[in-house]
Amino acid sequence: MKKTLALILAACMSLSLVACGGGGGSDNKGSASSTGGSQPAGGSQGSSASEPAGNGETKTVGIAMPTQSLERWNRDGAYLDEQFKAAGYNTIVTYSDNKNEQQVNDIQNMLSQGVDLLIIAAIDGNGLNTVMNDAGAAGIPVIAYDRLIMNDNSSYYVSFDNYTVGTLQGTYVKDALDLDNAAGPFNIEFTAGDPADNNAPFFYNGAFDVLKPYIDSGKLVVPSGQTAFDAVATDQWQTDVALDRAQNVLASFYSDGTKLDAWVCSNDSTSMGVTQAVVQDYAGGNTVIITGQDGDVANLRNIKDGKQSMTVYKAVANEAVVTLDLAKAILDGKTADASLISASGWDFDCAFDTESYETTPGNKCPSFLLVPDVVTADNMEEKLVTPGYYKVGADGYLEATNG
Ligand code: BGC
Repeated sequence: MKKTLALILAACMSLSLVACGGGGGSDNKGSASSTGGSQPAGGSQGSSASEPAGNGETKTVGIAMPTQSLERWNRDGAYLDEQFKAAGYNTIVTYSDNKNEQQVNDIQNMLSQGVDLLIIAAIDGNGLNTVMNDAGAAGIPVIAYDRLIMNDNSSYYVSFDNYTVGTLQGTYVKDALDLDNAAGPFNIEFTAGDPADNNAPFFYNGAFDVLKPYIDSGKLVVPSGQTAFDAVATDQWQTDVALDRAQNVLASFYSDGTKLDAWVCSNDSTSMGVTQAVVQDYAGGNTVIITGQDGDVANLRNIKDGKQSMTVYKAVANEAVVTLDLAKAILDGKTADASLISASGWDFDCAFDTESYETTPGNKCPSFLLVPDVVTADNMEEKLVTPGYYKVGADGYLEATNG
């Protein structure tokens, strides 16, 4: 009763807001808000641009992205918006400035505007219970996009294999230092992501699990002693927060000339901060191995310049393709399981996983997981330019295809 009342009240409030803006009640359904950011680059196309099935009424999909301040979400929002529109759906796209409260409001407004399905990349996976319960009460399916939402009304999860992202980073460091053969010891530090993001511990544990045996044997040493996730986490994945901590670690544990060999960073925004600290404050003459994730343009420049060693690239264009085909199946009342993959014609790998992700203890969320890839200075053009995700700019650095 309470949930329903809240939903109706929110709907009334939102409709009056829409009316004030001249939108005119439910006819305003599908009036897209800004998508901003970079334009979609080329990517695998797995969906035909068919009219949505149904009784003739165009369906509306709400797309809630976390923020425009981190590069990848602009790409995700743009890809999703473009692909859903091309398939004949109305879209409402919001970015919530990394503020959970704002994302709750944005999703509430989408529900009020009568969306038929929600796609949500959560700012705080534990912070959406009210709107998730409202969506559930209204029978609106929710696809948790890239980040799992810790609520049982998450119908499906579409993401990359997050643990594998971390193992790729850890394995890169293991190979680059030749840990199985070199004498060592080597010094290493870690920077992880936002504790509110369910992905962050998966990335961190993936990397740490690869490197832990060498830490245990003494071949790898962590001079700061900071290896617990909470000690190395970065609030909201912010570059400045990662920079501050890296500067403190360098000042406290390396200013005496201690050699730093590697720094595992869970993604590119944190890698940016750590790289800046290393360039400015590390006195050693060696190249420090620094990892990342996403293939942000500024990080690709650092990789080309030898300041960052690698990034784990996730083709978010393909994540959008999977999300579109899954949404179509849900809205058409078709089965959405492994058969979606076999019938899709996608030219990229994706696994259907019913075991790895739980929204609450014991409640598994059916997941479609794509495969991440390692990008370095040596394979950057093959992995990113050839498939059309980026182009080589006049200055020789990569830039977004239509950016
Ligand atoms: C995404 C990463 C991204 C990070 C910060 C994570 O949930 O999976 O690709 O780097 O959020 O935006």
